[in-house]
Amino acid sequence: MMIKTAEEAQLEQQLTDYRHQLHEHPELSFEEYETTKALEGWLTEADIERVDLPMKTGVLAVIRGKKSGPTIALRADIDALPIQENTGLPFASQISGKMHACGHDFHTVSILGAALLLKKKEEEMEGTVKIIFQPAEENGGGAVKVLKTGVLDDVEAIFGMHNMPYIPTGTIGIKSGPLMAGVDRFVIDVEGTGTHAAAPEKGIDSIVIASHIITALQTVVSRNTSPLDNAVISITRLEAGNTWNVLPQTAQMEGTVRTFQEHVRDGIPAKMQRVVEGVAQALGAKGTLHYTKLGPALINDEKYAEWAVETAGKSGLKVISPVPSSAGEDFAEYLKEIPGAFFFMGVSGTSDLHHPDLIIDERAILPSAKFFSNLAVDFLKKMSGPKMEMS
Ligand code: NI
Repeated sequence: MMIKTAEEAQLEQQLTDYRHQLHEHPELSFEEYETTKALEGWLTEADIERVDLPMKTGVLAVIRGKKSGPTIALRADIDALPIQENTGLPFASQISGKMHACGHDFHTVSILGAALLLKKKEEEMEGTVKIIFQPAEENGGGAVKVLKTGVLDDVEAIFGMHNMPYIPTGTIGIKSGPLMAGVDRFVIDVEGTGTHAAAPEKGIDSIVIASHIITALQTVVSRNTSPLDNAVISITRLEAGNTWNVLPQTAQMEGTVRTFQEHVRDGIPAKMQRVVEGVAQALGAKGTLHYTKLGPALINDEKYAEWAVETAGKSGLKVISPVPSSAGEDFAEYLKEIPGAFFFMGVSGTSDLHHPDLIIDERAILPSAKFFSNLAVDFLKKMSGPKMEMS
């Protein structure tokens, strides 16, 4: 750990207090009214300009450098989860059944900390930094809604992070290319003909047909996807029948597809449909696939990932190349429109994300805030390019 100045120690205390406040009052996707109000208050106190964000929750702040240059964005997500907290922390959630179990309160105060630091660097900043406190990452497509408002239309690069319990505090995961998975969801209906369990020849057994479909679907990954690409198809629910001596008319399955390359993701629904309809038809039933694309894979820009390694080192963080995660993250929606990078920040967590026992190490807040403020200053300078000498 780096030595802290008195000013940094004070900022750390302030951000930690803010986090406790947010942690005690978690709010679910698109219900982040108190969080929004708190953020507006803290930004006003720091004399940081807010820009109108035409959404019910979420905040957009802006810091304008004294020198001209490009506009970049830093993003934090602010929502919590419907989980009953079980940490026993003195600042544990005071709201029954809701918890900041994904550490978005950590993201919020870290990015706020970056804003507070940047406010003091306006003189040296060569451009503008927009800071987006985004609602509804967990559920509801907050990123897509932010993009639709047009407030990021002038942004040339965007950056964000997720805390990672398995990475130690003081370490950051930086990687170019795919970092998190594209997430899709599907439901499969099989319609056979119900009959007496003792006379299967009089009906069409939806359970046996569903079983064939489940097995055949695995070939979409093992036989139809290149070994150099990645995909996972998981059936997570299978429901059919309600007693022991009747073969049911219908069976239903549900599951998810995770991919890391857009061309792989695009090809999968048609391949699954062929299997579902074809296998069902071959065995005399009707199979239907209902496929919903939820979010694309998160793909980091190569140049920005490289630049971030340098900034991280300068900010006192150790850099590792993280293993990509097959979880989804709606920051991927921004990266489809705007180049940028997403990082995994080490927080030495006590358990996994989305777990009621998760406690993260708050000593990660200050280094994260410093990293993102350094990143903004460094990147604006690098993006502006070498200055022409005027004579
Ligand atoms: Ni999260």
